[in-house]
Amino acid sequence: MRGRSEPPGQEETDMTDQHVIEVRPEIAARAHADAARYGAMYEAAKRDPQAFWAEQARRISWMRPPTRIKNTDFTGDVTIRWYEDGTLNAAATCLDRHLAERGDQVAIIWEGDDPGTSRRVTYRELHAEVCRTANVLKSLGVKRGDRVTIYLPMVVEAAVAMLACARIGAIHSVVFGGFSPDSLAGRIQDCGSTVLITADEGRRGGKRVPLKTNADAAVAACPTIRHVLVARVTGGDVPMQAGRDVAWPEAMAAASPDCPAEEMGAEDPLFILYTSGSTGKPKGALHTTGGYMVWASFTHQYVFDYQPGEIYWCTADVGWVTGHTYIVYGPLANGATTIMFEGVPNYPDAGRFWQVVDKHAVNIFYTAPTAIRALMREGDAHVTKHSRKSLRILGSVGEPINPEAWLWYHHVVGEQRCPIVDTWWQTETGGILISPLPGATRLKPGSATLPLPGVMPLLVDADGKTLEGAAEGNLCIADSWPGQMRTVFGDHERFRQTYFSTYPGLYFTGDGARRDADGYYWITGRVDDVINVSGHRMGTAEVESALASHPKVAEAAVVGFPHDVKGQGIYAYVTLKEGIEPTEALRKELVAWVRREIGPIASPDAIQWAPALPKTRSGKIMRRILRKIAANETEGLGDTSTLADPAVVEQLVENRAGG
Ligand code: WT7
Repeated sequence: MRGRSEPPGQEETDMTDQHVIEVRPEIAARAHADAARYGAMYEAAKRDPQAFWAEQARRISWMRPPTRIKNTDFTGDVTIRWYEDGTLNAAATCLDRHLAERGDQVAIIWEGDDPGTSRRVTYRELHAEVCRTANVLKSLGVKRGDRVTIYLPMVVEAAVAMLACARIGAIHSVVFGGFSPDSLAGRIQDCGSTVLITADEGRRGGKRVPLKTNADAAVAACPTIRHVLVARVTGGDVPMQAGRDVAWPEAMAAASPDCPAEEMGAEDPLFILYTSGSTGKPKGALHTTGGYMVWASFTHQYVFDYQPGEIYWCTADVGWVTGHTYIVYGPLANGATTIMFEGVPNYPDAGRFWQVVDKHAVNIFYTAPTAIRALMREGDAHVTKHSRKSLRILGSVGEPINPEAWLWYHHVVGEQRCPIVDTWWQTETGGILISPLPGATRLKPGSATLPLPGVMPLLVDADGKTLEGAAEGNLCIADSWPGQMRTVFGDHERFRQTYFSTYPGLYFTGDGARRDADGYYWITGRVDDVINVSGHRMGTAEVESALASHPKVAEAAVVGFPHDVKGQGIYAYVTLKEGIEPTEALRKELVAWVRREIGPIASPDAIQWAPALPKTRSGKIMRRILRKIAANETEGLGDTSTLADPAVVEQLVENRAGG
């Protein structure tokens, strides 16, 4: 590799490809992979994927080990099958197989919103809770292949619910607890769940979240739901509907702790997770069992260099894929101790993360750039007053991390001794695809660096031509890896169309990226109409349709704009119906409307009244222009000659909202 490298302590802010941070010898010495091993694994996986992934399959437990390894085709109908003749149970590989060796080891440390509360659950205890819950689900009529929706806060019960579904072969669909009743209902209806698992209330930052009330509102529109299983989290008084609602603690007390694990095919579904795209409603990304578990285990071990006995903390919510793969399935498959955190980074104060790091002696810490940026603003003292001496590895996920935030994380939080793994991946990919390995990869602040073994990234231009060497283009993946999603639940054609039709034969990620002269990848962000707000993925079309459903709105166009803390903010152009006055009160009402329709994460940061939207003569909204105005880049608006009425643009520029 070319480039300048500097001894620790002499780095400076240098936002170029040349800023290289060397692998630390003490990390490389005991890491699962050093540079040579990474190189050898990458080559082996490329040369003979069948042999490489046959070997890696051994990292999880199988009921019948697979003999057919890879059967994938990105052309035609698109078929993705891994380990197809193997059988296993995901809950058994996360729990049962650890009982003999580490039954009394802590599997989950739960840290409550209130700093005075925590709970430690051993593998043996978790196994028993999962088995009992699995029997409760059976008693509610849940069978193999049925869908169960989970709408829970960050409590141990969320992991228990997921694993209990897996144990009996039911497919879970976790819906983030911040979503509205409408969003929850849409996700239940799409997959036809028969049981919903929720809680009385959630807790976050000292406030309560009315989960059961939201669930009741959602279920009113979901005739497939036969039962609602209700966890007791706050003990808040919530109405229970006789015959439908079941109190989880009471049902558990009556359930047997014996529940054999269902023998599932490797390609049987494990879970559905809804994710936003550039058009239409959120899609149900379907992940299956064998390949997903191998990928979760493989990536968790190598990317975080997880060593036995270490305490590992991923701050995500189980409502997102990060929580699925890197709080629950990956760590538990590897027999790790994983932390589940109910709270938020700034409650009771901006030192909470580091207080928890010290409290539980966390070795590996994985969070999102938006949290890093928010904490960076609060000043170093919140960090430095805690010791953080247990920290060994730091991770980042969810959106591009700007070099400034990266360097703060490295210098202030990690005191330059902790490698940072900037992990690029997606709901669709099941696990990390591009990331440094702590003992192998020289780091560059802001770069996700290099692909993991088995991952073949490619950059293509707008015409689909493959770009070689240093280049910038659309990020595609040339061949399948075991953790890849298999289909969109109930709509395989949408799967094929969304990911494999833009550049035939390639998986198109929706992201843009630059590859530097060292072959390092720098993700530049989405190139489609998806925006990333505080690491939460949102389709602009969803926010537009929520706005357009308001009785006073004629039309809306939504774009992302650069936001110091959130990465991207939501900027909405709203055209009101004839005769409606644009007022400050109406602006507030529309923000509240979107919160209610989708959830707080979709709240617009800025609303600009737009007497008209810039459209082509064929009626297509020119988002390129709207994005530039929102970003206050009104100098080079580019070619506006194809607009039906170019005067519209001038008017929008003049009245730009100060968001
Ligand atoms: C999108 C996927 C990955 C789990 C959480 C988000 C963006 C994710 C990075 C990163 C730059 C990143 C991409 C991607 N993204 N990680 N390290 N650097 N961008 O999963 O909700 O499916 O969103 O998040 O744009 O496409 P998701």
